[in-house]
Amino acid sequence: MTQLTITPSGPVSGEISIPGDKSVTHRAVIFGAMAEGTSIIRDYCDGEDCLHTIRAIQALGIPIEITQSELRILGKGLWGFSEPQQIIDCGNSGTSMRLLAGLLSGQSFFSILTGDTSLRNRPMGRIVNPLRQMGATIGGRNKGALSPLAIQGSPLQGISYDSSISSAQVKSGILIAGLLAKGTTTFHEPASSRDHTEKLLKYFGGRLTRKDPTTVSLEPSTLTSHDVKVPGDFSSAAFFLVAALILPGSNLTIRNVGLNTTRVGLLEILCKMGASIQTSNVHETSGELTGDLNVKSSTLTGIDVDPNDMLRAIDEFPILCVAASFAKGKTRISGMKELRVKESDRIATMTEVLMRLGVEVDEQPDGLILQGTSSLQGAECPSYGDHRIAMSMAIAGLHASQTTIVTNIDCIQTSFPTFIDKLQSIAPSCKIETICNA
Ligand code: S3P
Repeated sequence: MTQLTITPSGPVSGEISIPGDKSVTHRAVIFGAMAEGTSIIRDYCDGEDCLHTIRAIQALGIPIEITQSELRILGKGLWGFSEPQQIIDCGNSGTSMRLLAGLLSGQSFFSILTGDTSLRNRPMGRIVNPLRQMGATIGGRNKGALSPLAIQGSPLQGISYDSSISSAQVKSGILIAGLLAKGTTTFHEPASSRDHTEKLLKYFGGRLTRKDPTTVSLEPSTLTSHDVKVPGDFSSAAFFLVAALILPGSNLTIRNVGLNTTRVGLLEILCKMGASIQTSNVHETSGELTGDLNVKSSTLTGIDVDPNDMLRAIDEFPILCVAASFAKGKTRISGMKELRVKESDRIATMTEVLMRLGVEVDEQPDGLILQGTSSLQGAECPSYGDHRIAMSMAIAGLHASQTTIVTNIDCIQTSFPTFIDKLQSIAPSCKIETICNA
């Protein structure tokens, strides 16, 4: 296991670019494989999560040529997949498992999806139950509530599904199954989750309509191959954005960041807290908005975070907590029970690590209340095997009064393998050391 030692840092400055978006990469790989013909995916995310989706698609008989900057997918259409010889390992990736469950349910062969300890404990009933309503034959631990999932592909029928949770992974799994089903598939959710699937499905020729922001319908459609340029991952940019905000004297430009409106809740929250962030050069690429962000260090004030903004910043909860730790006054985050079933129970894990750094935190069932302070103490913080906790603690360590150690940082590989190099490039005064002790 690798641990990270990080000393307090001066300002962060200069320009940085961010690797491709993880959510878009998963979808581009799956739709490229379901399309007829060759699709080239440029600037893809090469984190372990996406590599699990890529390997799964290869194991299903679809050739993917991989270079450092692009994927060349030789798609064989909706029914061009073949039975995998091995169990498919989704690693830590909930997106791989829930989206692939949709794809595999409508095929004509048998497959098994599994994952690491964290993923095997994450809820799968939310995708298994609607897929069963569509006619899928899925078995799993605890009656299908937990993986491994054993899927015997079968003919599917479109359904109209009223989801009790807002989840892009569930919506996407159902829409992917809908591509293979007879009739219309409609998915309704309480509030709109990220919409990369809808955008990319349309881009690949999917017949998709939206009745209102929370209801989407899909007719069975064949997909045609398309090249995709993946925008930089906003969730990865968020770590550097917050570093620049909290370190006095910082001025950082982050180039080519995905600015899909269903993802940028953090920008709105931080601006409400007093952040100075400018967006420029906004344009569309492969159906997604991208642009540059300029961020200057700012005096932040604690707020009651609007759950609607927070839903669009669901993966940014850990780094938002770091920003709020340096805000004047209290920040309250509520209405976010879903945070308890992410890669870790992020409400519990963030409460624990922030308290180690000397922050006053009051854990709530659906969020937390946090009292900002002017300085954190250095501490040893476990990552709990959660990439976003590890990276958030590294950023907090930049502004602590002593050295901070983050243990078990191997998980950073799941989404952002070059995180430490990028951090060092914008924070040259900071001593960052990794030690492998296993
Ligand atoms: C993702 C959707 C979100 C997010 C996850 C990635 C996706 O999860 O937290 O990191 O790519 O669809 P939910 O859909 O479960 O909210």
